Amino acid sequence: MVRKAGFGMCGIVGITGNENAVDILLNGLQRLEYRGYDSAGIYVNSQDGKEYLVKEKGRIDDLRKEIGEDVHGSSGIGHTRWATHGVPSKENAHPHVSADGRFFLVHNGVIGNFAELKATYLQDVKFASDTDTEVIVQLIAKFAKEENLATKEAFKKVISLIDESSSYSFLLMDNREPETLYVAKNKSPLLIGVGKGFNVVCSDAIAMLDQTHDFIELVDGEIVIVKPQSVTIEDAQGNIINRKPFHVDTDASEAEKGAYPYYMLKEIDEQPTVMRSLIKHYTTDDGSVIIDDALLDSMKKADRLYIVAAGTSYHAGLVGKEIFEGLAKVPTEVHVASEFGYNPPILSEKPFFIFLTQSGETADSRQVLAQVNKWGYESLTITNVENSTLSREATFTLLLYAGPEIAVASTKAYTGQIALEAILAKRLGEEKDVSAATSFNVARELTTVANGMQELVDEKGQYEQIAANALATTRNAFYIGRAIDYDVAQEAALKLKEVSYVQTEGFASGELKHGTIALIEEGTPVIAIITCAKTAKHTRSNTQEVLARGANVINIVSRNLAEDGDQIILPDVHSLLTPLLAIVPCQLLAYYTSLQRGYDVDKPRNLAKSVTVE
Ligand code: AGP
Repeated sequence: MVRKAGFGMCGIVGITGNENAVDILLNGLQRLEYRGYDSAGIYVNSQDGKEYLVKEKGRIDDLRKEIGEDVHGSSGIGHTRWATHGVPSKENAHPHVSADGRFFLVHNGVIGNFAELKATYLQDVKFASDTDTEVIVQLIAKFAKEENLATKEAFKKVISLIDESSSYSFLLMDNREPETLYVAKNKSPLLIGVGKGFNVVCSDAIAMLDQTHDFIELVDGEIVIVKPQSVTIEDAQGNIINRKPFHVDTDASEAEKGAYPYYMLKEIDEQPTVMRSLIKHYTTDDGSVIIDDALLDSMKKADRLYIVAAGTSYHAGLVGKEIFEGLAKVPTEVHVASEFGYNPPILSEKPFFIFLTQSGETADSRQVLAQVNKWGYESLTITNVENSTLSREATFTLLLYAGPEIAVASTKAYTGQIALEAILAKRLGEEKDVSAATSFNVARELTTVANGMQELVDEKGQYEQIAANALATTRNAFYIGRAIDYDVAQEAALKLKEVSYVQTEGFASGELKHGTIALIEEGTPVIAIITCAKTAKHTRSNTQEVLARGANVINIVSRNLAEDGDQIILPDVHSLLTPLLAIVPCQLLAYYTSLQRGYDVDKPRNLAKSVTVE
């Protein structure tokens, strides 16, 4: 998976030393749109005194329409935005320019003390936007002019005034040095891409894979001076740092949609392949599991596992709890990262932490990992992004090998995380002589899952019909289930909410009668997930209770539990792996409901793929 840069929700790019700067910047921003897509802009300099600043509200395609034929240059910076301070507008779009027209800045992250800095130093400056970012570029211009500081010194002085709770990756240009990009990062991820005779900067390597596959990692607090022929990294103390680039194998085409109308559908269809890729990477031909001994030793010593994650990854953790307790008999807790960060539970004697994160950059999870490191506990990050921040900062890493996940609504990463939890739990259980683990042939079970998934995606047309009948016009909906099915119901609800904006709850079906059933009225869609044998009949009686109040009930049922009238039948798989099949129809129902409502399935309103601000 491509190396993603962290905190701050937006996508930023930069280039110096290439005549096609405009196209390279725009194509790079297009590939970063999953990080924010409410407004965008570029600044380019043609080295002959001509410079161009073009910004627009909306998508990169809207920005392209604003860029005239004459706009050209060999160096520049660009930005696609997920608004934090200031509404999505042309004025609040980046790059921001200093009042004297000399400095241009793009930023990804949040400046915690921007209001204080503005009040303290910039009362006399006329601001063009409501953003925290403009405060930074105005301050750089002020110090450069009034204290006659060189650009790097003015940049460093401003950075020293930013409070440490802030997250930022900055790309600064001074039109008196049109070939130079000034770069700095703290928490927000950023990479330098090394080209032949030119260099680029980007939030995520995916933006520049058509230009280079060699990228240099940056560490918080570093300042970087990028020129066409050189990259100079300085640490916070001013020491020059020599760092070798790492090579990204991913081919740019992997991040293309190909013949698919949307990435979400492509990524749903790729789930059988993700299962097979995990089997290939983590098991041998005789089905034994390959997991790093040091990781196993650390997990074996633990008296309790703490899974910490956000959003869909948190939901994969809920299923992980069932799997670790089922196959390795180790007590497991699952925590929402943003809650754990400021309200941690009493920890056990020997805790071991597992961070689930597709992007590897989620600020809420990273904040917890930083604490866990301070407490001196060991941790594992399960991620889809090699070298990502949460991977680098954890004790151990296991990769999903799922390929780029571009659609904001996570699908194949969810099933990939669950399958990898099963592989790890199997191995840990074996180490602890848990019979459930020794008899669990994970390679065979995941092969059965992959075949089952293929069967479900091959018959996706039926879900298009069910979506049209039950969900295309509804105001609200419910997914219900018990035990492991309740875990799936929560993820299924998130998918429908995320891409179709239907108010949906994933609810413990036994809990409905204690109040929420009051929301059921004539035609309310209630989708029941029934794959768990020990609770199936209880969930069915709960569907009767909502049927009696006019609900439109749709049952998603494992073949061995199916009864007449059940609408969606799932192939049978191991009881701990049923979520890997049950979620597929739910992903497709969300996809088709969004499509039928005419929404942009891949870029739902108000969202971004990698949530890198707390
Ligand atoms: C899921 O569809 C969303 N994109 C979101 O909830 C996501 O799962 C969450 O932000 C966590 O992201 P991560 O897995 O990259 O840490």
